[in-house]
Amino acid sequence: MTKPLLIAFLFTSLIATFLLACNDYYTDKKKNVSNPSQTVEEEPVWIGPDLASVSDDEKGRLIKYGHELIVNTAEYLGPKGSVLHVSNGMNCQNCHLNGGAKPYGNNYFAVYSTYPKFRERSGSNETIVKRVNDCFERSMNGKPLDSTGKEMNAIITYITWLGTDVPKGKLPRGSNITSVPFLDRAADPKIGQIAYTAKCQSCHGVDGSGILKSDGKSYLFPPLWGPKSYNDGAGLYRLSRLAGYIKDNMPLGARHEKPQLSDEEAWDLAAYINSMPRPKKDFSKDWPSISGKPLDHPFGPYADGYSEQQSKYGPFDPIKKAKEEAKK
Ligand code: HEC
Ligand code: HEC
Repeated sequence: MTKPLLIAFLFTSLIATFLLACNDYYTDKKKNVSNPSQTVEEEPVWIGPDLASVSDDEKGRLIKYGHELIVNTAEYLGPKGSVLHVSNGMNCQNCHLNGGAKPYGNNYFAVYSTYPKFRERSGSNETIVKRVNDCFERSMNGKPLDSTGKEMNAIITYITWLGTDVPKGKLPRGSNITSVPFLDRAADPKIGQIAYTAKCQSCHGVDGSGILKSDGKSYLFPPLWGPKSYNDGAGLYRLSRLAGYIKDNMPLGARHEKPQLSDEEAWDLAAYINSMPRPKKDFSKDWPSISGKPLDHPFGPYADGYSEQQSKYGPFDPIKKAKEEAKK
């Protein structure tokens, strides 16, 4: 190459590089504009306080005992519990992961900030004590705890401590079970069974009864149906709650940010699990106002005229529309 040609070549490359860089800069800026999530700050996912920061005084010890009761419920309150026998062998933590402190893991972050609150199921203003006993009687298929006893006091103190920094009335990000978008068909237990065999059975068992620890007191892998599981008055017996819980948390190790199931798998798995036999609860006094029933409440009578079958498995969009119409 001759000297002037070389200079011209270098010069053009320089200009080209400069223009490309400008262009990159320009498109990056455009990206920010067209994707507001990059410029508008999102509310961060709520993280609870650290148990290690709790002091070793009377209140601190109560908080730690409350945590222990949530994590190892069966050791204290299960069929072979050391304090009382009021629950079915499961631990609260089986469904309220990481001691009720896992983001999107059905945590307790919004309990202290939102209770007491009116709940349609009982048609009354419920305290945290009442809500905890609801889970004893339904999710743990057991008996309510004495509301003035040491164990209830410890559980309430722990749950209150977990939510102390949450502003009153606020549901921080990640505090509820996710709502998985509705399918445009009914969730299908038969398809769910295939996914169950592939992705869940290794831990929860062929017959869904889970695996007990060697001491026989509590579970290594908790039951999903059968006599030792949650009863049909429990929150997870509503398909949307179960689908949301497993979508964000199962198989073990899944997270909201890194799910391992598709929406369809979550719904069909939930349909399979909740089509299997489980303990029954007398809840004839629930839902004093039937129009207050959530759209996936699997027991009639209903104000919207849909069948129990559709209210259990969907499709839910038509029920949702009917409910919205009725409100107008
Ligand atoms: C089989 C699963 C399961 C078990 C076991 C369980 N729970 Fe729950 N719990 C749930 C579900 C589901 C909800 C409702 C979540 C929703 O509606 O979004 C819930 C809700 C709650 C709430 C209210 C949360 C809120 O923000 O409104 C409290 C408090 C609670 N449980 C305490 C307990 C305690 C204490 C135990 C152990 C004694 C326990 N739960 C055991 C499934 C369970
Ligand atoms: C590697 C083992 C493992 C696999 C695989 C697994 N789970 Fe779990 N699952 C667990 C454990 C352990 C818990 C309780 C977590 C705790 O106590 O911290 C649990 C809890 C649950 C619960 C709430 C408690 C209960 O018993 O009702 C449900 C529902 C559940 N799993 C569903 C599923 C589904 C659906 C799949 C398949 C997509 C699945 N799991 C796969 C280990 C597993």
